[in-house]
Amino acid sequence: MPLHVLQHPLGAHVLTHLRDKTTKPALFRTLSYQISLLLALEATRDLATEEKEIETPMEPMAGRVLARQLVVVPILRAGLGMVQPFQDIFPDVSIGYVGLERDHTTAIARSYYCKLPPLEGKRVIIVDPMLATGGSAAQAIDVVKAAGAKEIVFVCIVASSEGVAAMEQAHPAVPVHTGALDRALNAKKYILPGLGDFGDRLYGT
Ligand code: PRP
Ligand code: URA
Repeated sequence: MPLHVLQHPLGAHVLTHLRDKTTKPALFRTLSYQISLLLALEATRDLATEEKEIETPMEPMAGRVLARQLVVVPILRAGLGMVQPFQDIFPDVSIGYVGLERDHTTAIARSYYCKLPPLEGKRVIIVDPMLATGGSAAQAIDVVKAAGAKEIVFVCIVASSEGVAAMEQAHPAVPVHTGALDRALNAKKYILPGLGDFGDRLYGT
């Protein structure tokens, strides 16, 4: 499975402040936006383009435009914190939603919502800040595959080695883009060093 770990000084800077436990929700949301923007650029680096004839004010030329529509699918609820930069740089993007919630004792994700636009022929980018056991990401990919998605990318802010291994096992052809690859999971399946519960920190819950 292709694994891409963000290599950008601004990414490292933003991640450090995201991880800092004294960072409050307002700044946390801004930092989430910033790192998601960097990840959005990385995850779309290989998008197909096609030729388009235009006329500049000076002369005709063959330019290039995006050839494939994009669908971004946040895994609720924390994934919502990563959507805005995709909407800002890809104005024609469609948004689908997959609602998954980990059980606090088993860490197994339960599905509670799903609303997807047509996915055939589109680049489908699933976003969720935390790839811990990999259970939520693998389930979300199952869902979009069942709905017809063929070209799928998964984007997260922090991944654990265990989560990456689970993705390799479940969906070896789906590329993963992450802001960082962390050391381990604790007994409650939280990422170490991680940044804690992303949804709680994003929404102040
Ligand atoms: C978090 C996170 C991922 C999931 C990752 O969501 O946003 O969806 O856990 O864990 P996994 O890789 O072990 O499945 P959570 O279930 O806490 O829900 P929330 O987004 O509503 O806070
Ligand atoms: N979900 C989170 O928000 N954080 C973790 O470390 C693991 C799952």
